Amino acid sequence: MNEALLNYLLDKLRRFGVSSSNQLSHVTTYTRELPISLDRMYENAIDGEHLPYLHSSTFSYIDILESGPWGWRAKAGLHPRSKLTDMEIKLVLNKDEFCWKTTTLSGLGKGTEIWTHAIPLGENRIKVIVDFYVPKLPAILKDFYAEYYIATYEKLYDEDLMMMSQRQQALDFKKASTNKENAATLALGNEKEIRSQLPFTFEFKQHRFVINESNGELVVYSAMCPHMLSPLENETLDNGVVECPWHAYRFDVKTGECVSGQSCRLKTPPALSIDPDTQQVVVKELS
Ligand code: FES
Ligand SMILES: [Fe+2]
Repeated sequence: MNEALLNYLLDKLRRFGVSSSNQLSHVTTYTRELPISLDRMYENAIDGEHLPYLHSSTFSYIDILESGPWGWRAKAGLHPRSKLTDMEIKLVLNKDEFCWKTTTLSGLGKGTEIWTHAIPLGENRIKVIVDFYVPKLPAILKDFYAEYYIATYEKLYDEDLMMMSQRQQALDFKKASTNKENAATLALGNEKEIRSQLPFTFEFKQHRFVINESNGELVVYSAMCPHMLSPLENETLDNGVVECPWHAYRFDVKTGECVSGQSCRLKTPPALSIDPDTQQVVVKELS
C-alpha cells in the first residue's frame, strides 16, 4: 500500500475510530547522545527550512508561515508528496527548560505532541530525549506508531548530526583562520593533475574554495554556502548553478548571484589562471 495512504488511514482510524479517549498517550521515547554542542542543536531545531532538503526521504515540502528565535509554524507534508499527509506544525523552543515542543496543529497527526529535551553532557556532547504523545491512540496501534517514530527519528538525527557537525567544522575553520597570513597568489599545481582531482578544494584568504568543471571549463567558486556554511564542493553543477544541500538555495557559480531569490551571494573567489607554457594553475586575489 502507498505509504502516504497508509499513514492517512492509520491517522483516520486513530482520530475517528476505535479509541474513546481524548487523552494524549505516551507512545515511546527515543534517546541518543550526540557529539555536538547545545547551540548547534538549538539552531537545528528552529531551522524548519531544512526539512524537505536535508530530510528529503521523510518530508516533501515545507511552507514556513512564521519563524523566529522562538521556533516556527509551517505547513508541511511527508514524502512522497500527497495531500493526504499535509499538516500544520508548530515548534516552540524553551531554552530555560532545555526543550522544544513540536505540535501538529491540523492535518495528518492532528494533536500529536513531540517533546524533545536536550541535556548538555559536556562542551560538545548532549543527550536528546524525545517523547512522542499521540491523542486518541488505540492500544492496537501503539507498537506500530512506536516503531515508526523510532525508525524515523534515528534517520532524522543521522542526517541532522551530519549537518550540525559540518557546520561546526566550518565555524571552527573560520575562527581558526582569522589571524592567518595569506599570500596574494597561490600555485595549485598542474592543470592535468587538478582536472584528475575534481572537485579540487583549497584554502585561500581565510576561506575554502573549490575548482570544478562547467561545460568543460574550470571554474572556481566558494565551497562554503553563505547562508549557514554548508559544504558545496560535492554538489553537481547544473549549467553553472550549484544547489545547496541544506536549504536548496541556488547560486550561479560564475557571478556568485543567488538565483533562487534569497538575499545572499557566494563569496567572490580569487581569479584563476593557467600558464600557457607550464600549465600551472594559479589563483590570485582580485585587486
Ligand atoms: S546552508 Fe542554507 S542554503 Fe546553504
Ligand atoms: Fe533536522
